[in-house]
Amino acid sequence: MERRDFIKLGTTAVAASALAAREAVGQPQPAGTTAFAAPPIPNVRIGYVGIGGQGSSHVRNLLKIKGCQITAVCDIRSERTDWASKAITGAGFAAPAVYNKGPRDFERLCDSESLDLVYTATPWEWHVPVMLAAMKNGKHAATEVPAAMTLDDCWAIVEAAEKHQKHCLLMENCNYDRMEMMVYNMVRQGVLGDVLHAEGGYLHDLRAIKFADEGEGLWRRAWDTKINGNTYPTHGLGPIANCLDNNRGDRFDYLVSMSGPSRGLQDWAAEHVPAGSPKKQERYVEGDVNCSLIKTAKGRTILVEHCTNLPRPYSRIHMVQGSKGLFQGYPNRVYIEGRGKEDEWVDANTMLGEFEHPLWKEMASAAEGAGHGGMDFLEDYRLIKCLREGLPTDMNVYDAASISAVVHLSVQSVGKKSAAVDFPDFTRGRWKTTPVLPIVHI
Ligand SMILES: NC(=O)c1ccc[n+]([C@@H]2O[C@H](COP(=O)([O-])OP(=O)(O)OC[C@H]3O[C@@H](n4cnc5c(N)ncnc54)[C@H](O)[C@@H]3O)[C@@H](O)[C@H]2O)c1
Repeated sequence: MERRDFIKLGTTAVAASALAAREAVGQPQPAGTTAFAAPPIPNVRIGYVGIGGQGSSHVRNLLKIKGCQITAVCDIRSERTDWASKAITGAGFAAPAVYNKGPRDFERLCDSESLDLVYTATPWEWHVPVMLAAMKNGKHAATEVPAAMTLDDCWAIVEAAEKHQKHCLLMENCNYDRMEMMVYNMVRQGVLGDVLHAEGGYLHDLRAIKFADEGEGLWRRAWDTKINGNTYPTHGLGPIANCLDNNRGDRFDYLVSMSGPSRGLQDWAAEHVPAGSPKKQERYVEGDVNCSLIKTAKGRTILVEHCTNLPRPYSRIHMVQGSKGLFQGYPNRVYIEGRGKEDEWVDANTMLGEFEHPLWKEMASAAEGAGHGGMDFLEDYRLIKCLREGLPTDMNVYDAASISAVVHLSVQSVGKKSAAVDFPDFTRGRWKTTPVLPIVHI
């Protein structure tokens, strides 16, 4: 098949699945809120699927968190299941059951193990199959980001979670970073006034990682040959979605998106990939910079950016603007009318004394040394705590679906000269009655 036919086919599939998703909106609306809670589980038995770079970081965290045990592990590479088994027994737990017999062996794990939770950090294309297998077999599911790459898959996880009455979480670690949590705390206290606009993104030079012969180099670059849009919206969007009460009083209504030229990977390949390598044959369609604008049901605006193929320092932008002031990340600064000098930023670190989120105050030392500055530990801790105590989780399947939907919707909008595309209401109206996220504690 010609490359351009393949891409065309991809676009047709994207359009068809969007149509199917729209039809699903007409289904009967379950009553109440989306704050689902399951019966408490005193000791959470976990099956971990995909133990590469990020999965091993979660495994290390879970070994330190009270009230959980990794009793099964799965990866297509036996060296990764060996590593996990050694780490688990080294921490004083019984050896886990091992599943490493190919890319669908997680189905056997979900089917045959007695587990409470299946947690996956596989490549993007496997998140939904793993979570559906987990929920179908009576297990809660949690996934690394993004949860899903198509609207069909977003609906599939929502429908499975509702049908099987299981948690299905997007594990967005950036929601738990220190500044993001401080800003959420400030928003809840009304310090920024009414929030009117926010900006977030994932701006990270991944060229060397994408071309490596290991880790993400084995799967992530392939997405750049298939779709053109924002393939990784959740790190920037997750924290600001909470500040705008997404699915809890407001919701994403529609999106417009533009991608610029595709140059970064081509330039990298020309300079670094040796002649004769199959990588030389690849053709990238992903624009280097993608900008999407979201309008919420309450008329508020969000800018989401994506840029992973150009040389640049790291940033998630992280801007939250209200009627009384704003927070702006990278570098972290605050401006609040009536506090400090007019027209001058204040270093956000000086606000930590007053506005630090209680979870960070309580857990900073426990999180020290864990992945991504400690935020990964806090998110794993909260997951296990909510399961053990039978609480609604901080992030749920509606967050997973609406935030991940930006992947598909941005591709659609880019393909239609930036036409507006609607977000499905995955909550089926319950965003109006679901309470805002509380300020959580240890
Ligand atoms: N939240 C974050 O900050 C963060 C950081 C890095 C990666 N991630 C996410 O974590 C996920 C994994 O990324 P990574 O960097 O660890 O990639 P990786 O390639 O290092 O790890 C993926 C692992 O999954 C295994 N795998 C692949 N297919 C499988 C299958 N069908 N069944 C079982 N195992 C399978 C691979 O062998 C590998 O060990 C991705 O979704 C990525 O977006 C998130």
